Amino acid sequence: MGDYLQAFKVTDKVYWVGAIDWDLRNFHGYATDLGTTYNAFLILDEKVTLIDTVKAPFFDEMVGRISSVISPDKIDYIISNHSEMDHSGSLPKAYSLMKPEKIFASPMGEKNLKAHFHDLPVDVVKTGDSLSLGDSTLHFIETKMLHWPDSMVSYLDTEKLLFSQDAFGMHLAGSGRWYTDYEEYTLRTEAQKYFANILLLYSSKILDLLKSLPGLNLDIKIVAPDHGPMWKGDGIGYILDLYRQFAEQKPSLKGVVIYDTMWHSTELMARSILDGMVAADLEGERINLSASDRSMAITKLMDAGVVVVGSPTLNNNMYPTVADFLVYMRGLRPQNKIGGAFGSFGWSGEAAKQITGILQECNFELPYPELKVKYIPTASDLEKCFNFGKDLAEKLKEKLQ
Ligand code: FEO
Repeated sequence: MGDYLQAFKVTDKVYWVGAIDWDLRNFHGYATDLGTTYNAFLILDEKVTLIDTVKAPFFDEMVGRISSVISPDKIDYIISNHSEMDHSGSLPKAYSLMKPEKIFASPMGEKNLKAHFHDLPVDVVKTGDSLSLGDSTLHFIETKMLHWPDSMVSYLDTEKLLFSQDAFGMHLAGSGRWYTDYEEYTLRTEAQKYFANILLLYSSKILDLLKSLPGLNLDIKIVAPDHGPMWKGDGIGYILDLYRQFAEQKPSLKGVVIYDTMWHSTELMARSILDGMVAADLEGERINLSASDRSMAITKLMDAGVVVVGSPTLNNNMYPTVADFLVYMRGLRPQNKIGGAFGSFGWSGEAAKQITGILQECNFELPYPELKVKYIPTASDLEKCFNFGKDLAEKLKEKLQ
């Protein structure tokens, strides 16, 4: 199309034809400081096939990359592994331009795509179904609620390639298409952030999927997710192991204190609570919600055994940033946490109790009542905070013995 954009050759038959969103800084409430990619893949066979599309504003970029390999109107099939708009947003335009013979999706995918785009014709494929493309065959496996009801993965037999849609991905813009193009620290950090913000609620389903993989007898040489770099060789074991660790949610000897503060009283409490935990030999981290956003806080607490949340009382309520974080956390449901609530107040002091209520809803173990201080904490109040942190740390150590 004259855009001078390049596809990236993955194997003899498969090209990456996605888009790089260097500017994305917010993915439905998750701070994506490093941008993202929307990966789409072109399979060259008797039936030319496009695996997923890209977010709507990136349609031209995808078409430019496809055009560097083949004319887009040669595409026979489009597979929609996941109907969320970052992968399906370009589907109506792609259908008009490419005029494919068929679009395929899971049973829920067909319903979801119709609910999004209304008159788009979609054929259904289920777990166990396969689709011959000529030399190669695509096999479909539904992965319901990983992370949408429609989610599925597709396996291309000749290339031993698993198109894993959102699973095993990360929000990371970059010019490299393989995991080997990135430092291990970046891969681990961004995989953890992605898991914490997108997949945490579905941890048990991920463990089920990981357990079921050997039984599927798939010889997988490449894992190609819809975001971030692709995995091959040792990288496949690496990302599967990371996912297993994340999904197991085993608590570590780490405590986080998450809070906001109005006139620094709640902050003084947070500081002493944290020092109490550290004095009891926990690794500790303090997260001020005016300095760190909700997605950083949820990432940091993922492997923590103790999570303590504090807020001043403002107009009989929690501070807005604390309420925002707790609602976000309640949706993602972290497991296996010992918790605590605290806060400074002037006259009514409801916030700490409200925090306790949400931590209870999240099934946190709450061994001690919330800690409240009127206005500015005294030395004796701060000693109580220190001991609160220390006692919570001791509870965790008992639990992990
Ligand atoms: Fe990348 Fe669930 O969309």
